[in-house]
Amino acid sequence: MTSQHVKDTLRNIDRWRAEVFVALFFIILAMPAGAQEDAMPSEPNALAFSKAAASSGKSHYLINCQQCHDADGRALTNIDFIAADLTAPGTWYYGTTPLSIFRSIKFGASLQMPPFKDSLGDETIWKIVAHVLNIGPQASRPDQD
Ligand code: HEC
Repeated sequence: MTSQHVKDTLRNIDRWRAEVFVALFFIILAMPAGAQEDAMPSEPNALAFSKAAASSGKSHYLINCQQCHDADGRALTNIDFIAADLTAPGTWYYGTTPLSIFRSIKFGASLQMPPFKDSLGDETIWKIVAHVLNIGPQASRPDQD
């Protein structure tokens, strides 16, 4: 390799570097759009009031929630904490509306209730909200098809 070769190669690497910088710049520009995934909806999804969503939400509930809240939602006693009794919204701290339940699931509640935003999509979370409403007081159970 001549020294001219070396110089050319170095120049090419420089050009390549500049392209990576430009690419990174655009990736960073595009990021706020991706961050929307973490946004809190302003209105409850119709799934929260659907009986079909509630029954599909039940299987997601059993997979993701029963290890702390028990299969029936009445909470398992754990040496470290007692999870909320999901059948008794009168005892809750973080709100009982469909939107608040959505928020507790998506972003977590206190230090012991983990956020599910990275493992469950919004639609699945709304189905679980429907299930939680369905095991609560009669008046707030989903009643739509
Ligand atoms: C690792 C254990 C754990 C898992 C898994 C878990 N939770 Fe919780 N959850 C808790 C604890 C503990 C609390 C009570 C936090 C507090 O009162 O400070 C809680 C609180 C809540 C609340 C809020 C109650 C209130 O006081 O407002 C809701 C709603 C809830 N959980 C639903 C769910 C659902 C639905 C799932 C599954 C998607 C789930 N949780 C998974 C432990 C858990």
